[in-house]
Amino acid sequence: MEPLLVVHGGVGSNLRDSKLRGKVLGEALEAGFVVLKEGGSAALAAVKAVMVMEDSPVFNAGTGSVPNLIGEVEMDASVATSEGNFGAVASIKNVKNPVRIAYEVSDKTKHLILAGEGATLFARNRGFKNYEPLTDEMKKLFKEKSNCDSEEIEKLQSLYSNETVGAIAIDGFDSIAAAVSTGGIIFHLPGRVSDVPILGGGVYASNRGATTITGKGEVIVKEMIARKVDEYLIDHSAEEAAKDIIQEFEIDFGIIVVDQDCKVGIAYNTESMSWGIKTQDYKEVQPE
Ligand code: GLY
Repeated sequence: MEPLLVVHGGVGSNLRDSKLRGKVLGEALEAGFVVLKEGGSAALAAVKAVMVMEDSPVFNAGTGSVPNLIGEVEMDASVATSEGNFGAVASIKNVKNPVRIAYEVSDKTKHLILAGEGATLFARNRGFKNYEPLTDEMKKLFKEKSNCDSEEIEKLQSLYSNETVGAIAIDGFDSIAAAVSTGGIIFHLPGRVSDVPILGGGVYASNRGATTITGKGEVIVKEMIARKVDEYLIDHSAEEAAKDIIQEFEIDFGIIVVDQDCKVGIAYNTESMSWGIKTQDYKEVQPE
């Protein structure tokens, strides 16, 4: 199959700079596509693309992640491949690129998910340095809003949340992989885990294709939406899967799916969702 890379910055409110988001999505496509062109795996290409978004403060993942209720950043990330490899970290703190640690979990351990302190300890043992992902902007926001009442917090949560970033890649060896990362919901209870590290919830991959979902994790997990999209690929294309499954649920969310025929399905029922696609001869970025 021809190499293909799709990236997304999640469904959200566009409170952060959409022009800059477009630029970073373009850079994520370029960085991931270099890996594919050099013969790297779909998993590494997807991870590389997600790392570029994690490194930018305009997305809710890695640097720029939203704080939890006590002002700390807890992050979730995962990687899934069409060969059945999966690795995830949940509620990890003080690392720069959670998606890179998720890849290490899939590549270097017999486990699927490492959580909390254990995940951070694993990262340190693998040589990943201590890093504070809370930006000055998020520190300021926390200071200003930490005494808000629950109504105001709910408003903030709908403004700043649900912005999972993700990537799906196909490499020259017919492998398809998805990688996802999020800082979760602003002011969430410490220890809350989103849909991102839950196989079948916010991410899934099989020999039919790979899927990432973006939106409110609790509902996505209850409905196992990524798994549903994958099952739909049994007798539908990626385009049909995205278009039909988005209508099945009365919740705000987005679907990005790539099937084994290199078809791409993107659908969302929110005001905005940023995404980009790249092949050898084609590149498109939709920043909002
Ligand atoms: N999907 C991201 C979250 O629920 O935090």
